[in-house]
Amino acid sequence: MARHLITSALPYINGIKHLGNMVGSMLPADVYSRYLRQRGHDVLYICATDEHGTPAELAAKEQGIPVAEFCAQAHDAQKAVYDGFALAFDYFGRSSSPQNHEITQHFARRLNENGFIEERAIRQVYSPADGRFLPDRYVEGTCPHCGYDKARGDQCENCTRVLDPTDLINPRSAISGSTDLEVRETKHLFLLQSKLQHEVEEWVSRHEGDWPQLASSIARKWLTEGLHDRAITRDLDWGVPVPADTWPELAAEGKVFYVWFDAPIEYIGATKEWSDLDPENRDWKSWWYQADDTVRYTEFMAKDNVPFHTVMFPATELGVREPWKKVDYVKAFNWLTYYGGKFSTSQKRGVFTDQALDILPADYWRYFLIANAPESDDSSFTWEHFTATVNKDLADTLGNFVNRVLSFSKKRFGEEVPAGSAPGEAETRLGEQIAELLAEYETQLEALQFRKAAAALRALWSAGNSYLEEKAPWLEIKTDQEGAALTLRTAMNLIHLYAVVSEPFIPTTAKTMREAFTLTDDTATWVTPDEARALTAVPAGTPFTVPPVLFAKLTDDDLAAYKERFGGEPAA
Ligand code: 2FM
Ligand code: ZN
Repeated sequence: MARHLITSALPYINGIKHLGNMVGSMLPADVYSRYLRQRGHDVLYICATDEHGTPAELAAKEQGIPVAEFCAQAHDAQKAVYDGFALAFDYFGRSSSPQNHEITQHFARRLNENGFIEERAIRQVYSPADGRFLPDRYVEGTCPHCGYDKARGDQCENCTRVLDPTDLINPRSAISGSTDLEVRETKHLFLLQSKLQHEVEEWVSRHEGDWPQLASSIARKWLTEGLHDRAITRDLDWGVPVPADTWPELAAEGKVFYVWFDAPIEYIGATKEWSDLDPENRDWKSWWYQADDTVRYTEFMAKDNVPFHTVMFPATELGVREPWKKVDYVKAFNWLTYYGGKFSTSQKRGVFTDQALDILPADYWRYFLIANAPESDDSSFTWEHFTATVNKDLADTLGNFVNRVLSFSKKRFGEEVPAGSAPGEAETRLGEQIAELLAEYETQLEALQFRKAAAALRALWSAGNSYLEEKAPWLEIKTDQEGAALTLRTAMNLIHLYAVVSEPFIPTTAKTMREAFTLTDDTATWVTPDEARALTAVPAGTPFTVPPVLFAKLTDDDLAAYKERFGGEPAA
C-alpha cells in the first residue's frame, strides 16, 4: 500500500485567513487525509506558515515588535484557528525554522554547483519616499497582459501571469503609493529556469494526464509562455540568508532568498521539523528522498498557486540533481466568492476563519464548504445558501434522523438497542442502496471529487430518512412491536455507519454519534460497501445514549443578523 504524502499550500503568516483560503487548500487536504487514514493508509499531512517576505516585515513594523516575535505570535494564532477547524495535520510547521534554512541553503548550493544559479547585477525599483528597494509585490500597476490595474509586480491576480515589476504599466509603490520610483543597480542570484524548460516540459508531459484540467491547463499556459530566469534573492532582513560559504559578498550585504524560493522547500523542511521532534516519527527523508516508488504525493492549492507548484518548484527540484520527491497529483481550486465578489483580506470583505468559529462550530463550516467547493468553477458563498444548507442537510437530514431514532427507541424500548424481528425485504433493499451509495462515496473521495463525495454522503443520509418514513416505526409500534424494534435497530446501525463514514467531513459530530453507542469492540475505522450491506455492526443489546441536538436549526433572525454583521451584497 502506497504511503501518502499530503501538503496544502502554506498560508502566509500575516492575517487570519478567510473561508476562501480554507476551502481552497487546508480543508480538502484534511478531508482527504482523514479519509485515507481511515482506510488504513500511512498518511503524512504537512502544512506550515509561510513566514518570510515583506508583508511580515511590514506587519511587525506596524505593531512595533521584532519580526521574529510577530511571526511566532501569528503562527500560534493561525494554529489555534486550524485546531478549531479540527484540521488534523501531522505537523504544522514554520518556514522560518532552522530545518528550512538548512534545506533551502542546500538546494541553492546544489543548483549553483549544477550551473542553474547565476549572480547578476540588476536594476531594481527603489522608492526614495519609502527609503528602500521595493520587493516585486510592493510595486503595483497595470498588467501588460490583461489591463488589470491592481496587478502586483510578481504576479497578476487577475490573469495569474507571473510578472516582473518592470513589466507593469504606470508602476507605483504599494507601501506609500508614491510614483516617484527610481531604478538602482544591485546584485542578485538568478535561478536559470530557462535552462530547465525542456526538462520541466518533459516532466509535466509525463504527469499532466493524471492532473485535473485546472492544474494542467495552467501549467501548460506557463510553459508555453516559456520559463524565464528569475531573481531568487531579495534585500530584506527577514528570510533564509544566502549562504556565506558560496556567496560571501551577497551574504555580507544581507541578501536573503525570495519567499517563493524557500516556501515550497518548507514542505520538506516541515517534515524534518516533525521528524526531529520525536524519535518515534519516521525519518523525514523516507518521505522525500528516493521515494518515487513508495510515496504518493498530493498537493492542494488555489489556482493562483498552480504555476509555482507545477513548474517553478519542480524546476528547482529537477535542477538540484538529487532524487527529491516531486508531486504526483495537484488538486487545484477555483475561487470561493462572497456574493459573487472577491473575498478580500485587505478590504476585510467576507468571513474570516476565526469569525466563522465564533458563530458556529467547525462542522457546520466544514460540511458547507466542502459540499460547495469551487472545483469545476468558482462558487459563491451567501448567507442564504449557507443557512439553507445547514438547515436542510445537517439539521434535518442528518441531525434530526439521529435524534429522532435514538429518542424514540429510548422512550419505547429503553437504553439498549432493541432486537426485533429478522430483517425483511425493506432492510435488504436498504442494504443494497447503502452499499451502492457508499461505493459511490468512496469512488468520489478516491478521485478527490469533493462536491460529488458530499452529494453521495448526503444521499446516504437521505436513504436513512426514506427508510424511516417508509417503515414509520411510530405507527408500526401500534400493531407490530417486533417490527418497530427491527426498524429502530436498523436505523441505529445507519447512525453508526454515518458516524464512521462522515468523519472526514464532520469529525466532531461523527465522534459524538459514534460515542452514542457503548460498543465493546468498536474498532472499525472504515466500513466497506460489502460490510455495510448487512447493517448489523451495532447488535441488539448495545447500550446507547441520546446525544444533544447535533445541529441547531438556523432561523430567519440568525440569517438577518449574519447579513447585518458581514454585509450581504456583492462589492460595488
Ligand atoms: O499564496 C499563498 O498563500 C502562499 N503563501 C502559498 C505558498 S505555498 C508553498 F509553496 F509554500
Ligand atoms: Zn493580468
